[in-house]
Amino acid sequence: MRSLASPLFKFSSLPSSSRVTAKSVFQGYTNTFKRNASMDVRHSTPINREYVSSVFAKRKPHYSNPQEMYLSEEVYKADIRNIWKQSWLFAGYTFQVAKPGAFFTYEVGNESLIIIKGKDQKIRAFYNLCRHRGSRLCSAESGHRSKLVCPYHGWTYTSEGALEKAKAMGDDFDPSKWGLHEAQLREVGGLIFISFAKNPPAFQEAYDVMYPEIKPHGFDQAKIAHQESYDIKANWKLVYENNRECYHCSIAHPEYIRSNYDTSFVYAGPDGKDGRIIDPENPKKSEIEQRMAEENERWKTLGLHASPDSSFPGAGWYRASRTPLRKGWVTESLDGQLVCNKLMGNFKDQDMGSARVHVLPNFWIHASSDHAVGTRLTPVSPNLTKAHVTWIVHKDAEDGKDYQLDKMLPFWKLTSEQDWKLCENNQLGVESDKYEPGPFSASKEAGLEKFINWYLKNVQKWDH
Ligand code: FES
Ligand SMILES: [Fe+2]
Repeated sequence: MRSLASPLFKFSSLPSSSRVTAKSVFQGYTNTFKRNASMDVRHSTPINREYVSSVFAKRKPHYSNPQEMYLSEEVYKADIRNIWKQSWLFAGYTFQVAKPGAFFTYEVGNESLIIIKGKDQKIRAFYNLCRHRGSRLCSAESGHRSKLVCPYHGWTYTSEGALEKAKAMGDDFDPSKWGLHEAQLREVGGLIFISFAKNPPAFQEAYDVMYPEIKPHGFDQAKIAHQESYDIKANWKLVYENNRECYHCSIAHPEYIRSNYDTSFVYAGPDGKDGRIIDPENPKKSEIEQRMAEENERWKTLGLHASPDSSFPGAGWYRASRTPLRKGWVTESLDGQLVCNKLMGNFKDQDMGSARVHVLPNFWIHASSDHAVGTRLTPVSPNLTKAHVTWIVHKDAEDGKDYQLDKMLPFWKLTSEQDWKLCENNQLGVESDKYEPGPFSASKEAGLEKFINWYLKNVQKWDH
């Protein structure tokens, strides 16, 4: 695992004036001193519900959203309260906490969690505050601690969250009552999801859809080859909206569209209600259909679950599918050839297509036979979103021998940075006095409408 020394990589599509900043997450910085002016909206202060409801009431179906949905601090607070604190959020990978005591932290809104493996091999998520007087327990982003010791007065917790030591608390003090607060955590084939909610959405159905697609890729036997952290100067909804349509792909993503059939699809029927089909106007329609059918059949004979269904079942928060790449492409790289010779999981065949998982509101991943690239979003303020983009390979793959980062990274580094620039431009335009919601393309942006409908349904649920 190494970070990129900049001279080796020149991604010319990202203008030098871009406000996108990339930095390696391995520089070991701590959370403590990097707060910014958005602090005032991190907290669970009362929300003006009447105002927020008036904003949502203005939204016209199949049009982009009212300006306030991307600018207003009140709407942002509702997003944190009703979406981010009520959903399942992708946090990280089980291999990041492979040994007892290994941990990483994840900060969302006014909360921070410590995700840590206990001596009993169980991974848990603890709220990152001391039960004594509330100090933040751990300011590192990741590391290893056999005990969690509060920096203030030294209260000491085990990796299973029990209070083990608290000096001078008197004979009446019962440490068993003062263990760390725990959040909900679920694992799916090496992926870790957390929830701050008391009653988060049912997980089993999502597990049943995601697990068969994820499992063969062996994320429990993997490692990070590289990770990039981005500050995107755009509202988190604009970032996920950008992901939910490929209307922009043929203009913005020359590398991405060479690898896959995403731009060959349209939504059929009025307002795209009849689902995704291959564009009847596409001159290669029957060739694409044939490849889809053949590949699905081939994967089935290899014992792979191969769902071509890329919708969100029940208009819910998750989806998983496997789709063929273009003929001759075995992975998402600049030339379609392997970028890691050690295949993931137990794959023997190079061509496993592209398995894709999406989880609303904060995660998507594309996985081929040799590597996977996952993106985790985290809102910071109404006009700032963090993205962590992570390149994953088999745990035994060796940098410089089995893979070269200068071959592996460009495809998703270029595509991601192209998207972040589009999102930032979108935010800037939405902030104009002249902005007004514009109409969606029914055949190309019905997926975007679905995302917004999911959002609107959930952000207006106030009773939890
Ligand atoms: S606040 Fe943690 S020991 Fe006092
Ligand atoms: Fe894009």
